[in-house]
Amino acid sequence: MKFFIDSADISEIREAAALGVLDGVTTNPSLVSKTGKPFRQVLDEILEVVDGPISAEVTAVDFDGMIKEAAELAAIHDNIVVKIPIIHEGLKAIKHCAQNGIRTNCTLCFNPLQALMAAKAGASYISPFVGRLDDISHDGMELIQQVRTIYDNYGYDTEVLVASIRHPQHVVQAALMGADVATMPFSVVKKLLQHPLTDIGLEKFLADWKKLQESVSSK
Ligand code: E4P
Repeated sequence: MKFFIDSADISEIREAAALGVLDGVTTNPSLVSKTGKPFRQVLDEILEVVDGPISAEVTAVDFDGMIKEAAELAAIHDNIVVKIPIIHEGLKAIKHCAQNGIRTNCTLCFNPLQALMAAKAGASYISPFVGRLDDISHDGMELIQQVRTIYDNYGYDTEVLVASIRHPQHVVQAALMGADVATMPFSVVKKLLQHPLTDIGLEKFLADWKKLQESVSSK
């Protein structure tokens, strides 16, 4: 399973990359906007830190605008994956990109039919947003299960990229369901290893070890 960080903040991305298990990065216009930096600068900084797929989103909503931005983004670096929303024009742009060797991440997916359409158009990744579905009392992870089943039924190789992750349980469920990628904010990355029994256990091991050192040194 691949782990991506969902961030445009270079210090978060650096810290996550230092863990040694980071496979890629997803950004979106809101995340880039938070940095206050020009888009190109943000992408260049990320490209220097992470050698893996980096999703960069188009902001045009018409076919011509989308494919123009897609070509410009893809030309920056082989690791750039162009993020395109699942709207009518977006679907056409995904198909065009697939035919022209540009990898795409189909974003803002909230139901299984959108995911099926994206796969038929040749998207490299589909991003179902689980947290935003949970937020409106739907079951985000049920969507992942549905998409996994549909893709497996027909042998689509579009990768299931679980997005809008809010907590580590989303990551556990994504792994159990066979999702290909989980993209998560840095707050979730930091929680992946946390367990109170690990901390309590380590504290006890170290205290017992210290006791032994004190008793042998006093002999
Ligand atoms: C996906 O690639 C999106 O950038 C992201 O996961 C959206 O997450 P949010 O719902 O926390 O904004």
